[in-house]
Amino acid sequence: MVTLLAIESSCDETAASVIRNGAPLSNIVASQTELHRQYGGVVPEIASRSHVLQILPVIDEALRQSNTELKQIDAIAIMTTPGLSGSLAIGLTAGKTLAMTLDCPLISVHHLHAHIYANQLTTQENIFPCVGAVVSGGHTSLYNCLSPLDFHLLGSTIDDAAGEAFDKVAQLLNLGFPGGPAIDQASRAGDPKAYRFPRALLHKKHLDFSFSGLKTAVLYSLKGQESSRDRPFLLSDETVSNIAASFQEAVVDVIVSKCQQALQHTHHRILCIGGGVAANRRLREQLTEMADHEGIRLFIPPMSLCTDNAAMAAIAEARLEADLTEDLHLDIVPGLIRP
Ligand code: KG4
Ligand code: ZN
Repeated sequence: MVTLLAIESSCDETAASVIRNGAPLSNIVASQTELHRQYGGVVPEIASRSHVLQILPVIDEALRQSNTELKQIDAIAIMTTPGLSGSLAIGLTAGKTLAMTLDCPLISVHHLHAHIYANQLTTQENIFPCVGAVVSGGHTSLYNCLSPLDFHLLGSTIDDAAGEAFDKVAQLLNLGFPGGPAIDQASRAGDPKAYRFPRALLHKKHLDFSFSGLKTAVLYSLKGQESSRDRPFLLSDETVSNIAASFQEAVVDVIVSKCQQALQHTHHRILCIGGGVAANRRLREQLTEMADHEGIRLFIPPMSLCTDNAAMAAIAEARLEADLTEDLHLDIVPGLIRP
């Protein structure tokens, strides 16, 4: 029997999970969304401070809900890359302190690999080999996933992440933060063909993404609209819905098409999605349609496993089995390094 304590603090969620034999017994997440709402995005300094306050109560709660005592923990799994440096450092420090006190191994977890692995927690089937797509507030990355220990980056965004584009466009439309759910909602009444927004890099051979031009195209479509200091653009509900629907359609088209290209390139028959944008109704619809059409097995985890959480660090068990553990020199790698 192997019991892991997993810690996640890479961005704006403080999370911990106790995982026994690969299955999470608890999945505690303290979200900071309310703290960042007034700024329209995550403020790194505020995120770090909140992690400092939340990390011990969150770990305690993960232990309590799983009826586990610290002395039963065999190893500590920590997300060390990618993420905000201050945020990552707090999870790492907590993890190192526990590993030192308990004299147990540390396991370093790649946050994006873990997002894809979250799908393994929802099925008895083996998800490997698969194409994995992480679409979140901070990342848009496609992976060739051969095993829990073998991920190869196929492409990622060269500027904004998909969720970031949703958040920025929602700000232009006065829809608040986080923007994804608001645009999803507003788009229901809109016409996705009302505006023809660009689908950047769609027909390029590589699997990278770019969303910043799309955001600028939305901004240009708003120019000429009445605006004031407090409300940059005074828009009718109909215009908001039409822009939301057209913007969303452009993002979804690109994501679905790049997933399809990645499947063709790797010849894999399984597609696993992760990250908060996976909540998007239109994205789910289009992915399902593409997967049905191509005969692909599609996995999208429930929301609690799509957004940032520590349960997905169950991927660490494979590292422990392979003796890929770390000592107290373990460091964070904030930037996205390949793979
Ligand atoms: O995975 P996550 O917590 O992001 C990171 O921590 O990186 O997901 C948050 C992101 C936000 O950008 C949010 O706007 C987006 O996921 N999101 C959505 C939806 N729900 C959340 N985007 C599109 N449609 C949604 N329904
Ligand atoms: Zn994430």
